[in-house]
Amino acid sequence: MESNKLNIEIDRYLSNTKKSRILQEKASKYLPGGSTREAQYFDPYPIFIDYGKGHYIYDVDGNEYLDFVINATSLILGHSHPGIVERLKYQASKGTAFSGPVEDLINLSEVLCERIPSLDTVRFTNSGTEATLLAIRAARAFTKKNKIAKFEGGYHGAHESVAISVNPAVNDLTDDIDPVRGYIGQPEGILNDVVILPFNNLDVCESKLREYKDSLACVIMEPVISSFGYTPLDLDFLTGIRNITEELGILLVFDEVQSLRISSGGAQQHFGVIPDLTAMGKIIGGGLPVGAFGGREEIMSLYDQSEGKAVIPHSGTFNGNPMTLVAGLETMKHLTPDTYNSLNNLGETLRQKLRAVFSELEIPVIISGIGSLFGIHFRNEPIKDYRSTFESDKLMRRMLFTGLLNEGVLLQGQTAGALNVLTEENDIDNFVRLTREVLVRIK
Ligand SMILES: Cc1ncc(COP(=O)(O)O)c(C=O)c1O
Repeated sequence: MESNKLNIEIDRYLSNTKKSRILQEKASKYLPGGSTREAQYFDPYPIFIDYGKGHYIYDVDGNEYLDFVINATSLILGHSHPGIVERLKYQASKGTAFSGPVEDLINLSEVLCERIPSLDTVRFTNSGTEATLLAIRAARAFTKKNKIAKFEGGYHGAHESVAISVNPAVNDLTDDIDPVRGYIGQPEGILNDVVILPFNNLDVCESKLREYKDSLACVIMEPVISSFGYTPLDLDFLTGIRNITEELGILLVFDEVQSLRISSGGAQQHFGVIPDLTAMGKIIGGGLPVGAFGGREEIMSLYDQSEGKAVIPHSGTFNGNPMTLVAGLETMKHLTPDTYNSLNNLGETLRQKLRAVFSELEIPVIISGIGSLFGIHFRNEPIKDYRSTFESDKLMRRMLFTGLLNEGVLLQGQTAGALNVLTEENDIDNFVRLTREVLVRIK
């Protein structure tokens, strides 16, 4: 019965997106699964994008979508922001990449260090993956310990140490929360170096951290869990982890690749919990490839090469390239405290209005999120940890996602999304109205 309703939504999608279908078939000849990025794909095939403008994107079939994905939350000023386009054009005319530094490298570093409480100094990379990798490397070198702790269900990019227990299958879960391989053939040694913790269970975390304290370099975590539809962690839990790590000589690394957008100083400023190291990405590059990591001077100085050899070498052909720097600086210029306030207020309005619609239609829901981030979960109880995510109704989620595509709204496949500075209350009202229409169809 329900899957009939899904088929109706899918049929409509197929008939709206014929050119995308042809392109997906063609792409599959040259790219595994026709894709180069997991999150870019959804069933039966993704829309191929022609262009973006403001807070809309347009696919190759000419369909318009209100874009709540904005490239995985990164385009906080929307697509092709005129200020960014202008600066990119100018910079391209001067040169897109040099082997030497440019003054804007200092300018963007200064903005980040002044805004984000944990940053004394910072280094740039080209992705959030590299940022978490190099933050972990700093923690290992600083503490001279080899293990790291991460959370079950936590995503921190593609590198080995964090590609463990990201999305483990139910059958692989153990009562002891043992690490689960990210892929067949992943070396045993990597698994031995990773301790897995459960979100929101301070007792279990504390006992594991105490057990492994002599070999644990750091705990890496997101203060707002992106893969759980932007579920913020309880303040008591965050504070608890901060206190225990401090007591045990384990560094705390916040992955703020996504959560940085909730205030000018990120989630750490919002919660008042300051990590030793922070990994960043997405919004700080204004829509261009970026990552950065930073923290306490005494830790980051391990990367200082100026007096001979750095303790940790760090290279990257496009690190701190001027295109990313100008786009990042233009973005930061627009992200004033007032901008964050209005983005966050709008996020709260959206969450409240969504809750009201679900309640009117008597459909159980948890609307998660914080600031300008939101997630929709077909379930009765808030998500507390990875294992509790299994309780959500995935068929309803897929029907809502596909139904909204048919109505011209693009969400992440997890029915989560992010606002940008161009979002207005009237966009929220449209989105909520369309969500209601789809819910009435699929309920
Ligand atoms: C929380 C988090 N950490 C790290 C990453 C990796 O960043 P990137 O995709 O730029 O490598 C992501 C990407 O989505 C992320 O959401």
